[in-house]
Amino acid sequence: MTAKLVDIRPVGTSLEVQVGQTILDAALAAGIAYPHGCKSGRCGACKSRLIGGEVELFQHSPFALTDEEKADGLILACRALPLTATAVAWLGSDDGDAVHPPRRLVGIVTNLDDLTHDIKLVRIATQDGPHLRFAAGQFAQVSFDGVPARSYSMANRPGDAGLEFHIRRVPGGVTSQHVHNRLKPGDKATLEFPLGSSYLRQHHSGSILCVAGGSGLAPIKAIVETALAHGITHPIHVYFGVRGERDLYLVEHFHALAKRHRNLSFTPVLSDAQSTQYRTGFVTRAVEKDLSDLGGWKAYVAGPPSMVDAAMEITFARGLRQDDMHADVFFTPEVQPVPVTDG
Ligand code: FES
Repeated sequence: MTAKLVDIRPVGTSLEVQVGQTILDAALAAGIAYPHGCKSGRCGACKSRLIGGEVELFQHSPFALTDEEKADGLILACRALPLTATAVAWLGSDDGDAVHPPRRLVGIVTNLDDLTHDIKLVRIATQDGPHLRFAAGQFAQVSFDGVPARSYSMANRPGDAGLEFHIRRVPGGVTSQHVHNRLKPGDKATLEFPLGSSYLRQHHSGSILCVAGGSGLAPIKAIVETALAHGITHPIHVYFGVRGERDLYLVEHFHALAKRHRNLSFTPVLSDAQSTQYRTGFVTRAVEKDLSDLGGWKAYVAGPPSMVDAAMEITFARGLRQDDMHADVFFTPEVQPVPVTDG
């Protein structure tokens, strides 16, 4: 076995990937801003098209890469060892939207507010202020003093002065307990930023479906606000799934946006409650009921694995192309990882 040459098409660079090294590790070591998140086959952020050659895929989550996607020639760069000379391109690299290289930066917590009984809004200011470059829908690895780093999506538009995160309290979760019980304005935060490939494709011309579960509303808020600010006039349908009324937040904010932008609709759906005011049942069932043809649409989905999985099943059955699905799976790090498949 010898090192293999891998052509990273979006940047037009060929790399030597050493024996036992993944394509993602080699690309990052070479300073290439290859989209990534978990680096462990769980999030799908490094999903790429294998244009030529052969790779061996290590274990990964079925949410990050489905069997159909594998059969269709997609791989996860963080799990792929090249067996021959290979050419790859990360998904979205041909759609003309900028992806910004990740970097480390330090910020200061400026605000903490309760959004619901278990979700806090945390605002962080950095030296770069409004010049921080990221794409709406991306996330950061955020660490606060003395607790493990966790991934949280930015809820604000790129270009805003600070970064806004929605952090849910996870039972037994060291980091989220710290945020809810001890974090205060003035505390330091370190960010690896920006990460993830589930960001707004601004050049897409067609309708947009957004499905958020719980604090998955954060990246969806960034995507919707950015799309509207850029004058996107195609229909944008946002479905927000939570358990009960006490889990809803920013409902007034989205209703006000929908009043100002006639192409936006916002539908909260409660899964565990009776309600005369809101729709009930699984949020993905509401999508299935309302939208019969998703051919030519883009879908942005953020939430727990079971919701993302159901959203994929339903939207693909409704004609959505796999390349038009951009999903952000929220894992709970303190909980056991989701089952893995043999890659
Ligand atoms: S970075 Fe490859 S699946 Fe998360």
